[in-house]
Amino acid sequence: MSEIKIGFITVSDRASRGEYEDLGGPAMQEWMGKALTNEWTPVARVIEDDQDLIEATLKELCDEYQCGLVLTTGGTGPAKRDVTPEATEAVCEKILDGFAEQMRAVSLQYVPTAILSRQIAGTRGSSLIINLPGKPSAIAECLEAVFPAVPYCVDLIEGPYLETDESFIKAFRPKHAKKPEAS
Ligand code: MTE
Repeated sequence: MSEIKIGFITVSDRASRGEYEDLGGPAMQEWMGKALTNEWTPVARVIEDDQDLIEATLKELCDEYQCGLVLTTGGTGPAKRDVTPEATEAVCEKILDGFAEQMRAVSLQYVPTAILSRQIAGTRGSSLIINLPGKPSAIAECLEAVFPAVPYCVDLIEGPYLETDESFIKAFRPKHAKKPEAS
């Protein structure tokens, strides 16, 4: 297992029961595979829309596995069973409102129903948690909108130093925060 671990949680009653294929989990992993040049190990879970279970899974990935980044997909809408943001808020120490603002603002350029996503992001210890909607296309749209700020955010919470493939997505770090090139 490589040192850097990234968590992926698919929150879906139907996918967790095997009634349909989990498309969100693989979509998140594929996107991260293109974005990161570091070696990393995925820690993936597919769970039902149950707040206690989502909280327990977030804690497991943050505290036991020490994932520097945990992405969730699904359960962010207004439906009665949608509780991913509530579970995320319950386990986070700090909520980073800017992530949600940016994801919704960019998503609204694609689809008017982006306004229905209550997705949030926040930190727990040295882990950054980001909620994404369930649709695979929404996953890419939201990650593109916020990922430039993710590596520096993870630096600030003392997580792993994440490096990106600049031809796919360029991370922004203030000059002082950049790791010196190996000579
Ligand atoms: N965001 C983007 N970028 N693209 C989308 O297609 N779909 C919206 C919204 N956000 C969408 C999006 C819709 S239709 C819903 S209901 C909400 O996300 C919540 O989705 P979820 O319950 O699967 O999390």
